[in-house]
Amino acid sequence: MNKNIIKILFSEKEIKKKVKNFSQISFPSNFIFKENEVIYVCLNQISDLNKLQKNFFLFQIGIKLQNFCRKGTYIIKYFGDKSLNEVNFCLGWEVGKYSFDKYKTTERNNNVATLISPFKGQIKKEKEVFFFVRDLINTPANFLGPNEIYEMGRVFLKKSFSSKKISGSELKKKFPLIHAVGKAASKEKMPILCELKSKNTKSKKKIVIIGKGVTFDTGGLNLKTGSGMALMKKDMGGAANCIGLANLIQTSKIDVNITLLIPLVENSVSRDSFRPSDIFKSRDGRFVEIGDTDAEGRLILADAISYACESKPDMIIDMATLTGASRVALGIEVPSFFCNNDQLSMELIEASQETGDPIWQLPLWENYLDQLNSNHADVKNIGNSIFGGAITAALFLKEFVKNQIPWVHVDLMAWSKPNKFSSYEGGEAMGIRALKKLIEKKFA
Ligand code: BES
Ligand code: MG
Ligand code: ZN
Repeated sequence: MNKNIIKILFSEKEIKKKVKNFSQISFPSNFIFKENEVIYVCLNQISDLNKLQKNFFLFQIGIKLQNFCRKGTYIIKYFGDKSLNEVNFCLGWEVGKYSFDKYKTTERNNNVATLISPFKGQIKKEKEVFFFVRDLINTPANFLGPNEIYEMGRVFLKKSFSSKKISGSELKKKFPLIHAVGKAASKEKMPILCELKSKNTKSKKKIVIIGKGVTFDTGGLNLKTGSGMALMKKDMGGAANCIGLANLIQTSKIDVNITLLIPLVENSVSRDSFRPSDIFKSRDGRFVEIGDTDAEGRLILADAISYACESKPDMIIDMATLTGASRVALGIEVPSFFCNNDQLSMELIEASQETGDPIWQLPLWENYLDQLNSNHADVKNIGNSIFGGAITAALFLKEFVKNQIPWVHVDLMAWSKPNKFSSYEGGEAMGIRALKKLIEKKFA
């Protein structure tokens, strides 16, 4: 087989030595080209960036290069900076092949270029997780309700996880907030709490991973606008990413007990909808007043967090498409995270830099807590200020974390828009490579 050669150059000196048309190189528009049958990728213009951004760009460039090559077989003969994450480049190449065409009846052109990579095994697993997460988010709510997500998760993790589903009157009694949010949905889409536990582990270390699984967020009686609702099939993006994360851990060598908790609801409008001003007794006994039915994610997570704390785990991670405010702060590509433990925060930041999987810390600013005061109950589910919405949402969740159990809350978009490197638009895996690295650092 004829293998095409790729060389990835990082320094100006190196490029001047190897490439003729140095003056024409510009990033991000013209840094990949073919000269004397060799494909050069010239990255001198990103050499001043920090580790996180360089590693992030490598992933994006992998996507772009796959698209540039289109067909044939390729091999990286030279990768000029060993301090960077070459795996990212190869993973980007593979992820760049993704398309969601289950609901397109016309045939598509499936010319794809093959990269011979030394990281084949790892890439294959991570690629499968990316494809799973994206497929799950892209599948619309008329095909994917709570039960379907439960089934998909179970099947994806089947080898080493046992599964349990709590629903109906048991859910109403034990997880009143999850029930309250989900009770307006039609019969087939009734709320459930999905619990998946890893089997066969010897480890005593226990992590609970919680994912917001709102299969569609209309806003409830505080109905969203048309444009506000347009993307809301992705409101189970936290759940999809958590299943992906559990899979990454399961297929790695990290021996740790994982419990996956996924509250699955549709935030719908009907005569059974919960209402603004309703008061519900949460699982942990405190009364919550509903200020806004569109702040539903924090309600379902609160009961799941209470439940998680009862088993006294070593760490709790939750992932949620929780607030528009987090996107206002950091844009759509960078999930925010909140953490009640400084050491853990530092380790997650490092894990993000090493993997090039962006995630950025925002503060659990306690002085905003009284914004959640309620007139008639213990706490309200929205703040009384238009500012700092991602923080007040995180503070609401923190109210349910007991005994200072180390806890990471991730507020993510779970959706990609086209950019200079990729034309893909749709559901996205975000933060899970960084979180997997964190778990590896702490528990492997
Ligand atoms: N699922 C949304 C948050 C969201 C919106 C994430 C757009 C990503 C993109 C969440 O349930 C919600 O509606 N949040 C409200 C909270 C508000 C009512 C306090 C928001 O962010 O506007
Ligand atoms: Mg909402
Ligand atoms: Zn939501």
